Amino acid sequence: MSTVVIKTEKLTKLYKLSAEIVRAVDGVDLEIMAGEFVAIMGPSGSGKTTLLDMLGCLDAITSGKLEIMGQDVSQISESGLVNIRRGKIGFVFQDFSLLPTLTALENVQLAPFFARQKDSSATAKRLLEMVGLSERAKHLPRQLSGGEKQRVAIARALAVNPQFLIADEPTGHLDSKNSQAIFELLKELNSKQGLTVILATHDLGLGKQCKRIISLRDGKIQN
Ligand SMILES: Nc1ncnc2c1ncn2[C@@H]1O[C@H](COP(=O)(O)OP(=O)(O)OP(=O)(O)O)[C@@H](O)[C@H]1O
Ligand SMILES: [Mg+2]
Repeated sequence: MSTVVIKTEKLTKLYKLSAEIVRAVDGVDLEIMAGEFVAIMGPSGSGKTTLLDMLGCLDAITSGKLEIMGQDVSQISESGLVNIRRGKIGFVFQDFSLLPTLTALENVQLAPFFARQKDSSATAKRLLEMVGLSERAKHLPRQLSGGEKQRVAIARALAVNPQFLIADEPTGHLDSKNSQAIFELLKELNSKQGLTVILATHDLGLGKQCKRIISLRDGKIQN
């Protein structure tokens, strides 16, 4: 029997600006099982980042229900969410978010340190090798290409041994060749290691290669 990794009921995020209320995510019902590879697609402003930030426990929900690995986290405040996501969830962002003064290897090693897990350079080296970067371990981010930076970010996300990976437009700053290569890496992690991957993308070519597409429009699921 498959494990439910994420379950939402009427998940909603409102942003209150002075006069208007933005329904960024509006009543989303969703179930994601272990081992799935899911693409969240939709036009700019449709709520992809807002949804991923809630699923990744980076942002508190406004209303509805959110369960992560069977735990109801709906009522937990933003500060309390740190403990939920620490060590459970891996993140990859469009802008790579690497620390500029640390080498590729040090960037990967830092993730377990922040997650209060045991960090080991052997694990970090193994992960860099897995993403095809063992030759670049001592490079600083500015000495890496965009595609290489994103590989480091993926290795870093995996260093905490996460239950699932959230990737918000991971190929948004890459050319098409590097986009496909990063996408292949994520697909391989999914098919060979069973890593659950939830990614947002604008790229229909990539979306079509995912086992499941969730289409968002105005904060609502379309399909
Ligand atoms: N902090 C915020 N305060 C107010 N409104 C916000 C905030 N963050 C996002 N929004 C609004 O919520 C809606 C959804 O934004 P979101 O960033 O989730 O969209 P997106 O689908 O990720 O877009 P993109 O493809 O451009 O990244 C938009 O209308 C946006 O303007
Ligand atoms: Mg976004």
